Amino acid sequence: MTDSKTLMNLAQKARNMAYVPYSHFRVGAALLAKSGKVYLGCNVENASYPVANCAERTALFKAVSEGEREFEAIAIIGGREGETAEFTAPCGVCRQALAEFADKDFRLILGNEEKFASYSLDDVLPFAFTGKNL
Ligand code: THU
Repeated sequence: MTDSKTLMNLAQKARNMAYVPYSHFRVGAALLAKSGKVYLGCNVENASYPVANCAERTALFKAVSEGEREFEAIAIIGGREGETAEFTAPCGVCRQALAEFADKDFRLILGNEEKFASYSLDDVLPFAFTGKNL
């Protein structure tokens, strides 16, 4: 059983791997699959700025490429180099990417290691466009 606090600590650890020479804004994510495995991700930037990949999608794509399809929760933590922000919200693209695999019980754990709260994907992406709309 991986609890929210443990996931947040793992996300903070993942932040150390962020490759952020342009924004200097480090983000870490820890994604818990229903298998019990946790996949870590960080943001990876590029000299061609739009090529950057967010921490959440790094974790998600790692997991899906390892065969995972069902997820329990993701913890996200960010902040400028040398600091930790109180709250880092996932960007719109990452919300949409997570919506592809999230069920109604999927939780987003947002905040920092001291203070965090749990949200549903519907909280952050109401009226989501999903495969059900196709
Ligand atoms: N970033 C993430 O990794 N996740 C988010 O949800 C927000 C933004 C990254 C992208 C870029 O490398 C840096 O933060 C500044 O936008």
